[in-house]
Amino acid sequence: MIPSDAPGAPGSRPVLLSDYRAPAWRIEHVELACDLDIDASEIRARLALRRNGAGAAPLRLDGEGLALRSINLDGRALEPGEYMLDAEGLTVPGARDGSVLETVVRVEPAKNTALEGLYLSGPRETGFLLTQCEAQGFRRITYCLDRPDVLARYTVTLRADRARFPVLLANGNPDGAGALPDGRHWARFVDPHPKPSYLFALVAGRLEHIERDYVTAEGRAVKLRIFAEADAIGRCGYALDALERAMRWDERVYGRNYDLDVFHIVATHDFNMGAMENKGLNIFNAKYLLADPDATTDDEYRQIEAVVAHEYFHNWTGNRVTCRDWFQLSLKEGLTVFREQSFSADMGSPALKRIEDVSTLRRAQFPEDAGPLAHAVRPAQYCEINNFYTATVYEKGAELVRMLAGRLGADGFRRGTDLYFARHDGQAVTVEDFLKALGDANGLDLMPYLDWYRQAGTPRVRAREVYDAATRSYALTLGQHTPPTPGQAQKRPLPIPLRVALFARDGRLLPLRLEGEAAAAGEERVLELTAAEQTFRFVDVPEPPLPSLLRGFSAPVIVESDEAPADLAFRLRHESDGYNRWDAGQRLAQLAFDAALRGGPGTALVAWCEALAALFDDAALDAALLAELLTPPSAVELGERCAELDPDAVHEARETLENSLAARLGAALEPRYRALHAQADGTLDAAAQARRRLKRRVLDLLCRHDPARGHASARLQFDGAHGMTDRLAALAALVRSGAREAGDALARYRRRYDGNALALDKWFALQAQVPAATALQRVQALMRDPAFTLRNPNRVYALLRSYAQGNPVGFHRADGAAYFWLVERLRELDAINPSVAARLATAFNGWRRLEPVRRRQAQQALAALAADAPRLSRDLADILERTLA
Ligand code: ARG
Ligand code: ZN
Repeated sequence: MIPSDAPGAPGSRPVLLSDYRAPAWRIEHVELACDLDIDASEIRARLALRRNGAGAAPLRLDGEGLALRSINLDGRALEPGEYMLDAEGLTVPGARDGSVLETVVRVEPAKNTALEGLYLSGPRETGFLLTQCEAQGFRRITYCLDRPDVLARYTVTLRADRARFPVLLANGNPDGAGALPDGRHWARFVDPHPKPSYLFALVAGRLEHIERDYVTAEGRAVKLRIFAEADAIGRCGYALDALERAMRWDERVYGRNYDLDVFHIVATHDFNMGAMENKGLNIFNAKYLLADPDATTDDEYRQIEAVVAHEYFHNWTGNRVTCRDWFQLSLKEGLTVFREQSFSADMGSPALKRIEDVSTLRRAQFPEDAGPLAHAVRPAQYCEINNFYTATVYEKGAELVRMLAGRLGADGFRRGTDLYFARHDGQAVTVEDFLKALGDANGLDLMPYLDWYRQAGTPRVRAREVYDAATRSYALTLGQHTPPTPGQAQKRPLPIPLRVALFARDGRLLPLRLEGEAAAAGEERVLELTAAEQTFRFVDVPEPPLPSLLRGFSAPVIVESDEAPADLAFRLRHESDGYNRWDAGQRLAQLAFDAALRGGPGTALVAWCEALAALFDDAALDAALLAELLTPPSAVELGERCAELDPDAVHEARETLENSLAARLGAALEPRYRALHAQADGTLDAAAQARRRLKRRVLDLLCRHDPARGHASARLQFDGAHGMTDRLAALAALVRSGAREAGDALARYRRRYDGNALALDKWFALQAQVPAATALQRVQALMRDPAFTLRNPNRVYALLRSYAQGNPVGFHRADGAAYFWLVERLRELDAINPSVAARLATAFNGWRRLEPVRRRQAQQALAALAADAPRLSRDLADILERTLA
């Protein structure tokens, strides 16, 4: 591993946004010559330097874990006293404006288990070399100004043994290749677009590829190529199709065209994150690229399409216009996630997509916002930037862009992004620049939205209503408050767009006319809540209406309302918009859960079951939407409702919901299952996917209602499945319902997919998530499976993260055994891959809200690890320190 020279968090100073200074130096041109090999690679860098501004600061370059072999300034070798080396970089006092600095360093790819910088993917005999630079990996490859506001043109020459490394790739356009003595060869790439160092990438190894010709709307001919190892190249076709769809969409919807002669994507099984948008050379975690009907589920097909699009969209939102500093990370990530979500909505069902995105936000981001790691979409400080690739920066950031887009309307938003690209192409900019461009293009001041970027925590919106029959008026009073978060005790009111409608008792929507308006303006409108409290008075309201608030989830807030179970059930039956209907059902399920937890009366539960039973027979309802309606909120979301969390009690109460629903649907389940199963095929069209989604849900309920029939059906489905969606759903049903057949099915799956890493990950993840007191023993046993390794991030996430973050009952044991066990795994993992260890450690996020017995155990386990902070990575120490603060 590349030694992490940075000290642990206690000693390390945070980086502050308020300390930002423009760089004292610029680099006009980076020329790299890389002699690549598994154990040692030699990187020769030639930097054309410029002073930036009038200052006299000496040249200071970032560099970590590099062995410096030689250093030349303007053609002259420097003496030891002419430069200063330390653990974080290199100072060269003699550099002047216009100087050229040449360094030669040696790095050790095979020892790099942190997977940042230059590393080896796969076994040393057959694997390939690749890089990951975002956020600060380039400094592990060569000495440089490793910050996003230094944009340089790159020329990269790669040299390696031809037999061992037949394919050589870097960013930009190919610019020649040829043979060298001793069986070696070279290839050169020139990237005409100035870019920050975090977008640098190279790849070298034995890779196959598929390709397709593409012509952009502007007429540029582009070769699209996807590279993968021989056993994976047959699974890249779907991603290539998705790429083409994404490119066309970006031309049509944002007017953005691709800007190089080649667009390359490479798949690897060894990757810390999902994928990386390196200019013209995207690198993907295989999980988000490889697809085949036998091993890929419907959900995964959709994810692959989304991630391929996401990385492609970064070419404009991230690469052509990049971030000034890492505090602005959401400038590119929030915007790109929003673009990706819009694309996916267009490719499939917008209502379903919205349901999925909101439920992800509630499961992943709301808990983050409510816990010790809460941070603003644009944080004001960080110790380790790797720890800020979070649901807040990505998903909440996307919601902020969605609010802005909603405020401007489709045409206004397009005018805004057009101006943003025109004004800032080739620049490294800030969130303010983004808001300013969107505002300027529309003659609006959007700066009030900046508070959304600066303020952490999920706002609560409370609604009170008064209907006055005498004046036929309806007053809706909306109040907002945001709970305190670490370091931010006081919160300001935010501009909150609330899309609302009013239902009449017959299920129709009422025309909306606010007091003082001449006429009604439609049946749905956006109320802008800007103060701590505001009253909106509707007139001409013929009867006490039923309000439908936050339609389409128009702002990332929690609406606290006292809506009665009967009213929620009414909206669950009558809402015309899929998202609102789903949300009404979720709220009703939450009320049913609250009552079950307190052992209170089951009014809400009955209302929920009755409404769903009616919808179950509604032939007009889309099958996929029905599947979502039939699913109560996750245990994680429900746990967020508890002031003091007992995961066992949450689980029991949620089981009451599931079992009651299964009992209510009862005899209707099996025929529905059979009807859906009779239509089973392996096709990927929306209707077939929707049927599989509903079938999975119906099978789960059937296994509860009638285990004998449920298990028999699941067994048949497992044996005869047309594809992975049905196979995995059947396996999950057997395992989760404790079927006798489960063990045998698991063993057969294990054998069938031996050697298929992505399929095995699903096998590990499924078992890690079975809610049972014995989950820890099961996970420990799975760690002894020959296919398990702590060195592969996907495997670690599949087993350890699925357990620690996806199995509250199994992980949060009252005896604390799982906490102490996880802490030991974190120690081991930290020595291998700090960023994966840090990510896994966020499983302790909610520890302070646990009931007292578990809380004490968690605190002890965490404190024991934190006591070792000086020996831990900065990544892990930072998470621990903030979690315990
Ligand atoms: N920019 C990549 C994306 O689009 C993620 C890079 C993650 N890198 C990291 N150091 N955490 O999602
Ligand atoms: Zn991204």
